[in-house]
Amino acid sequence: MKSSRISGFYKLSFQERLNKVKEFANLTDEEVAFISKTGSLDMGVADRMIENVIGTFELPMGIATNFLIDGKDYLIPMVVEEPSVVAAASNAARMARAGGGFLTASTPPLMIGQIQLVDARNPHSTRHEILRNGDEIIKIANEQDPVLIKYGGGCRDIEVKVLNTVRGTMVIVHLVVDVRDAMGANAVNTMCEAVSSFIEEITGIKPRLRIVSNLAKFRLARAKAVFEGEVIGGDDVVEGILDAYEFARADPFRCATHNKGIMNGVSAVVIATGNDFRAVEAGAHSFAAMKGYKPLTTYEKDVKGNLVGTIEIPVAVGTVGGSTSVNPIAATCLKILGVKTADELSRVIAAVGLAQNFAALRALVAEGIQRGHMSLHARNVAMMAGATGEEVDRVVEILIKDGSIRIDRAREILEEMRSK
Ligand code: MEV
Repeated sequence: MKSSRISGFYKLSFQERLNKVKEFANLTDEEVAFISKTGSLDMGVADRMIENVIGTFELPMGIATNFLIDGKDYLIPMVVEEPSVVAAASNAARMARAGGGFLTASTPPLMIGQIQLVDARNPHSTRHEILRNGDEIIKIANEQDPVLIKYGGGCRDIEVKVLNTVRGTMVIVHLVVDVRDAMGANAVNTMCEAVSSFIEEITGIKPRLRIVSNLAKFRLARAKAVFEGEVIGGDDVVEGILDAYEFARADPFRCATHNKGIMNGVSAVVIATGNDFRAVEAGAHSFAAMKGYKPLTTYEKDVKGNLVGTIEIPVAVGTVGGSTSVNPIAATCLKILGVKTADELSRVIAAVGLAQNFAALRALVAEGIQRGHMSLHARNVAMMAGATGEEVDRVVEILIKDGSIRIDRAREILEEMRSK
């Protein structure tokens, strides 16, 4: 009987770990080679990033072109497994250029850390005591990270709320922290832990959870673009996108997909820059749900008949610290982007989210999504069937003409082609 109970797995070398996995899962030598063959992220670095490392995992990285954001040109590295995403973003950015490109704005990089006090007998009095000692709490928080303070960041404010829960009344403290160019979770978590003994002293309650909130509602990035009616296919397309937008506003089933389309672009850049995509996803969807689940973008028609799109989204990303600094590809992606600060990166990401959403809506309204998807899908199928080089294009052409993009058909076509 094989067992997954492997004591001391973490102490083994990655080669030894891989051997254990090979044995457990009956891997072939070829499969083992796939896992252990690393690229620019070498095994030593990967081994220090997470635990129990046996290899690295690759994804395609594409470049979205045509982005003009606040008058500056950007090439956008995107890491994503889904066909059409990069092409769609580039296409939307090209259309936005005619209207002046994307114009952005943002709030300061403020993150929230939460400290939970349970069993508060006199919650309002507890709340008052915490607020009365706010300056001292901020002072203790700011003693934790001299580097952040040196760069102009630090704990700015505290908020205290009383929560009624089925486990009784809780008092929740928020530390509002300017994290500058960091993603900020580490800095905020350290501060939350550091202030908790003082909070216990003044309230008599030992804090339970002390952790960053991913609902980064104070760390917003905004972007706007004017898509000229003629450029995007005429008034029918403008009207169609407005209908699509209202559909998403009125229906959470559609809204989930609408926002997923935005995150196709957002997460691809977040991953390319080595940032925490789960944090950004959690932030985006929880922000969208603050007043009932709503789209992160808006669309209107201006007096000239152009479509005006906007986006407002929390983007908790960093340009220093974390895997951004450790992963050489992430650092290179930041160089390609040419962003100087986390704030600039967050605004670029917002622009990409808007572009991606516009592209999806336009495709859905104008031609249906499958046309673009299918040719890329057909390429994948052709390659899976074994087509190489020029064969790929020829197989794709026939698959699309047939209207049936199936691997068995691709194999058949390939066989026929090769037998001639
Ligand atoms: C697919 O990954 C994303 C879309 O479904 C987004 C949308 O429907 O708006 C095309």
